[in-house]
Amino acid sequence: MSILTQAKARASSNIAFIKYWGNQDDGLRIPVNSSVSMNLDGLFTETTVVWDEALSADRLILNGQEAQGGAYQRVVQHLDVLRQRLGLQAHAQVTSANNFPMGAGIASSASSFAALTVAGVGTVDAGVDEKELTTLARLGSGSASRSVPDGFVVWHKGNHHANSYAESIAPAEHWNLVDVIAVISDTHKAVGSTRGHATAQTSDLQNGRLTHVEERLAIVTDAILKRDFAQLAPVVEHDSNLMHAVMMTSNPPLFYWMPSSLIVMDAVRQWRAEGLDVCYTLDAGPNVHCICTAADAPEVTRRVQAIAGVIEVLQAGVGGRASLLSQ
Ligand code: DP6
Repeated sequence: MSILTQAKARASSNIAFIKYWGNQDDGLRIPVNSSVSMNLDGLFTETTVVWDEALSADRLILNGQEAQGGAYQRVVQHLDVLRQRLGLQAHAQVTSANNFPMGAGIASSASSFAALTVAGVGTVDAGVDEKELTTLARLGSGSASRSVPDGFVVWHKGNHHANSYAESIAPAEHWNLVDVIAVISDTHKAVGSTRGHATAQTSDLQNGRLTHVEERLAIVTDAILKRDFAQLAPVVEHDSNLMHAVMMTSNPPLFYWMPSSLIVMDAVRQWRAEGLDVCYTLDAGPNVHCICTAADAPEVTRRVQAIAGVIEVLQAGVGGRASLLSQ
């Protein structure tokens, strides 16, 4: 038997309410601040990892195609991490697919590295608990640590590998929020998050962003626990604005907003003033995540769809933890 073990896992993408931007240690992805997110139900990656002693090299089949180049190298690097932790020598065949449209500008590194970690550790009896899984996923992509636990998740920044981990602060069913995603562009982003994190400290505004981040984190966590949308909304928007201010003033500057992003952001603020429970947040791209209550989601979706420049609207509720599907 050349196949040692195989497992399939599913992990959701997530959207941060308090953002991760910049690292204390880029190699280990120890962030400069803790972050909070919600998993996105229905937007997920499914990954099968087969550890096979007969393979002479790792293989990656991504959305049906043999992958090479940067994506392949990043996966091999992560498999090296897993091999070391699990005491394996074998290479792996990794088959991975996202269920959300490729090119919809939805970041896939969080769901991809969470699913790869859970499937890779799979059934090997190495005593890896959920906390350690989040630290291993973090080494592949920082935000992937937050896609491992259930529902609403905090990633504690820590200051070394073992204490920079994520944990659930409330399960998915705790609060029925919806992310209505206004897709503004489907082109691949010019500068990815990894390079962005490495330049965050070149902005004079990064230290300003960090000054009150612990307060924002506490307010957002408390708002989630109390299901208090009025408390959540302004802080989520402010934290996103602060991160983008840092991006725009870094060297080189990173402008992710597009004209239509601003139109949606402006509309969302207006709708909230009119009484809808909605706020916006943007990651390293132009798409606007309109976070709203389930009650207001149909109206928010209808209004977002009517905005010129929005090419597609996706909806996601709160997702659960990453899970093994089969072994
Ligand atoms: C803007 O986790 O994608 O989405 O660790 O280099 O893979 P790497 O970066 P990544 O960064 C996410 C940045 C963000 C904010 C967030 O999700 O907190």
